[in-house]
Amino acid sequence: MRTHFCGLVDETLIGQTVTLCGWADVARNLGGVCFIDLRDHEGIVQVVAEPSPTAGNDAVVATAEKVGYEDCLRVTGTVRRRHAVNARIHTGQVEVVAERIELLNKAEPLPFHHHENPGEETRLTYRYLDLRSPAMQRKLRTRTKLVSALRHWLDARGFQDIETPILTKATPEGARDFLVPARMHPGEFYALPQSPQLFKQILMMAGFDRYYQIARCFRDEALRADRQLEFTQLDMEFAWVSERDVQDTVEAMIRDVFREVAGVELAAEFPRLTYAEAMRRYGSDKPDLRIALELVDVADLVKDSGFAVFTGPANEAGGRVCALRIPGGASLSRKQIDEYAAHAGKYGAKGLAYIKISDTGEVSSPIQKFFDEAGFAALVAQVGAGNGDLVFFGAGRYPTVSDFMGAVRLKAGKDFGLVADGWAPLWVTDFPMFEWDEEAQRYVALHHPFTAPAIDDEADLRANAATAVSRGYDMVLNGNEIGGGSIRIHRSGMQSAVFELLGIGAGEAQAKFGFLLDALKYGAPPHGGIAFGIDRIAALMAGTESIRDVIAFPKTTSAQCLMTGAPSPVPDAQLAEVHVQVRPKG
Ligand code: AMO
Ligand code: AMP
Repeated sequence: MRTHFCGLVDETLIGQTVTLCGWADVARNLGGVCFIDLRDHEGIVQVVAEPSPTAGNDAVVATAEKVGYEDCLRVTGTVRRRHAVNARIHTGQVEVVAERIELLNKAEPLPFHHHENPGEETRLTYRYLDLRSPAMQRKLRTRTKLVSALRHWLDARGFQDIETPILTKATPEGARDFLVPARMHPGEFYALPQSPQLFKQILMMAGFDRYYQIARCFRDEALRADRQLEFTQLDMEFAWVSERDVQDTVEAMIRDVFREVAGVELAAEFPRLTYAEAMRRYGSDKPDLRIALELVDVADLVKDSGFAVFTGPANEAGGRVCALRIPGGASLSRKQIDEYAAHAGKYGAKGLAYIKISDTGEVSSPIQKFFDEAGFAALVAQVGAGNGDLVFFGAGRYPTVSDFMGAVRLKAGKDFGLVADGWAPLWVTDFPMFEWDEEAQRYVALHHPFTAPAIDDEADLRANAATAVSRGYDMVLNGNEIGGGSIRIHRSGMQSAVFELLGIGAGEAQAKFGFLLDALKYGAPPHGGIAFGIDRIAALMAGTESIRDVIAFPKTTSAQCLMTGAPSPVPDAQLAEVHVQVRPKG
């Protein structure tokens, strides 16, 4: 149908006849001369329909006059140099003088045009219109380039791309499973994979040595800007490796791919933080290192104060009292300080004490009264606060305080323009093996139950479960967890011990993971791996906050596809076929 793409017509084609297909992005009628911005996936070119004294172009002009937003057109014409050059676009030096315009499909009045910047709900309902916008085309193309670059990198290094099942058994990654009723087995269900975790481990036991897959994963969990129900991982596994083998390889991969796809040069060596240090200094296991602010522990200086909110946690094991100095923070009003406290409240804070030192050195603080003069001065000195600064304090249980002070740090970083330009990748290592779940009164795995403990002895692990460190690691970029992995348990006895510590009894372990426990017995090599969140990396490369922008057809935060209307009820007959009866909502 066409000889060239709209967005690629340039000076080299001047004098030539071209045939283009595309949408009418904008059409202007300037009294007998019509200008149409014709758009395809490559970009926009200006088409002119003008009366021609020699060629009698009246029909062409008449058609052009009828053209509206998003009409599908086929245009044949001659390329000529343009009077008013548009330096911002590739085709800006030229225009196409139309000799023939075919209206291939007239568009009805649009619900919106991408020039209008509509709300996300409207965009997702008419996703095909939204995706036509150059901005969305660019974002999805970045994603395509990313996946292609990753594949090339891995193919060139002997990684084998192997598909694993979508209809499978539960693969626990800490979320709820999506279930699929099994028509041939009444009352039984497949689970969609939360990740290919167990299959990739079995592939190592099956002798494949290096595996990867661009794998769709399914997790029924609360959605956020960086989380979808279904998302895509670059999933990788390596046999005969220790941590550094995996980390060094994938660090080189990420560096190469960022250079190739985004033109970004990441650090030659990613910094490494232990989980404990990350929590202590940044209140997060995925710290945004572009923000220079750090938490400072002050338990020693407040443990004898008169403020019970501080003295409790300062004197208890498992408590924490820490401070965050915000340079220039004294400009915050009382109301703005309350907003910070409300923000911290979302992360479990019961309050957010502060010391404000004005530009002229006046102190205002709800906690000053609990300290003697020297004690208060020591506290101010410890956090390095001076005129114009504000210091926030958090007190309570160590994880809670770290969490809400970490959130305050991020907010302050953004509010005060303290997020440095550039890219801050790092490794976070030495995660705790288990977390104690108060509600369930049992341990849960911090990574997943197949992660190896640093202690290589089952009895030792049982005796030291509360403090045991795992061989898991995360890659973090600008405050986003972009990848997570570990060295795995490769011996059956250790796997059984970990199941037991997680409250999975021998019977349940056999029923759920018997195939794994068996496979571990028949010569399973040491192995490990990692999975990267493709959606998150693509979003970072495309410079967008939400992974929905780099997914063609995402779900909303209420887990719906607004375009298709999924999820939706199904007829009773279809339910009966799969032996499912719906309980009325209780
Ligand atoms: P993990 O659960 O850490 O590890 O997932 C790996 C990476 O996948 C991305 N990710 C998500 N992206 C979008 N939406 C979600 N709901 C979502 N959940 C996770 C993150 C994360 O770092 N089997 C292990 C990997 C391994 O041990 O090798 C796993 O799935 O970027
Ligand atoms: P109160 O004496 O209860 O008014 O508290 C004095 C200050 O301590 C207020 O600014 C509270 O916001 C703050 N505060 C209360 N609980 C905590 C806490 N757990 N951590 C930090 N600050 C707190």
